[in-house]
Amino acid sequence: MTVEKLFIEGPNKLAGEIAVHGAKNSVLPILAASMLCGAGCVLHNCPVLSDVETAMRILRHLGCRVERSGSSVFVDPTGMDRDDIPDCLMREMRSSIVFLGAIISRAGSAHLSFPGGCELGPRPIDLHLAALRRMGAVIRENHGCLDCSAPEGLHGARISLSFPSVGATENVMIAASRADGTTVISNAAREPEICDLADFLRQCGAEISGDGESTIVIEGVPALGGCEHRVIPDRIAASTFLAAAAATNGRLLLTGVNPLHLSPVLPVFEEAGCRLRCWENRMEIKAPPRLRPIKGIRTMPYPGFPTDSQAPVMAMACLAEGTSVFVENIFESRYKHAGELLRLGANIKVEGRVAVVEGVKRLSGAPVEAPDLRGGAALVIAGLAAEGLTEVSGLRHIDRGYEHFTESLAGAGASICRR
Ligand code: UD1
Repeated sequence: MTVEKLFIEGPNKLAGEIAVHGAKNSVLPILAASMLCGAGCVLHNCPVLSDVETAMRILRHLGCRVERSGSSVFVDPTGMDRDDIPDCLMREMRSSIVFLGAIISRAGSAHLSFPGGCELGPRPIDLHLAALRRMGAVIRENHGCLDCSAPEGLHGARISLSFPSVGATENVMIAASRADGTTVISNAAREPEICDLADFLRQCGAEISGDGESTIVIEGVPALGGCEHRVIPDRIAASTFLAAAAATNGRLLLTGVNPLHLSPVLPVFEEAGCRLRCWENRMEIKAPPRLRPIKGIRTMPYPGFPTDSQAPVMAMACLAEGTSVFVENIFESRYKHAGELLRLGANIKVEGRVAVVEGVKRLSGAPVEAPDLRGGAALVIAGLAAEGLTEVSGLRHIDRGYEHFTESLAGAGASICRR
């Protein structure tokens, strides 16, 4: 097997326009929810990403008809005749746990292997399981497998999450849509992807209110129909391109974005000295010749600073004139990119949840390996800014979340190719 790498000859100064694709983290739960529909659904703005392809394979395995035409995906769930997800698909995408509530609701039972740990550290699913149990699911954890059934069907429940988990909120919303009675989720996640899932379900006939706030109320309905839905723009991909423009002292116009969803990250770019201009679905960033440091970035649930943008923004902070401090509050082990950034000449110290980045004047190219999806994007950003050749391996991680990444950056003037 040949291993592909990205070759970046730096330093680059990004200039031009990049179209941002649809949100991976919206498509996955919406594809899971589509299996509850009584008719076909068409989803527009679905990026071609390995995680999205995995979700489509899961649906096909379950017996749904799934077809892609460009960025639109058609799902016909009427022929669904299975209730299991094979271990290989669970391992390929840890977030396939978001299919659990949908499968139990549709089939009355579900058999999945346990998602286990991942690149970001342990990935517990206790909140998902406790919530579904409250809704009437009987779940047995058996030798790394989850055997679930709902002998009496799922019913509404009051669910209070101890942490506003995005995946657990989505699992409950999906399962509650066709459950018997009312479900109230307190301390629900408030991410824009939650609102996108709620919009999709409402278009199919679900009765959901409060999405985007901490309390979501779902009145179960007996059946859902089909619909046509356009997925929201990927705010994490957008913030990655903003960081790439900033790190390369460049100027970029991003199209197909929702600047409102980016409001938790924009102050960070302004603090670094970038000039931002926003329109309804476009935004422009112009970076200064030398970035200023960022005093403190604390990752938090939405509307706080997103953990998924931490690594790309750290790559940019490596080149600021002064010290930036990061506190990672969401995942235990999300600084693996820091070790690789050191190879490029960055000055970063990590102590538990805190990373202190002393900005340097220049980075220098080196071979590096993507440790995970967003960490991989951070290495590409640093490579664009670094002097000389940077080779990035581990591209399977980056392919999970960025569509046409190389082409988008090359189109904005980067000297980057994939071989
Ligand atoms: C989603 C996103 C991911 C993002 C994360 C946080 C998708 C496909 N992925 O992941 O990109 O980084 O939100 O914004 O949408 N937790 C538990 N028990 C549980 C569930 C979660 O302890 O049952 C913990 C996790 O270990 C983690 C924290 O809660 O420390 C946040 O996880 P969660 O919000 O569930 O993230 P995901 O939905 O997995």
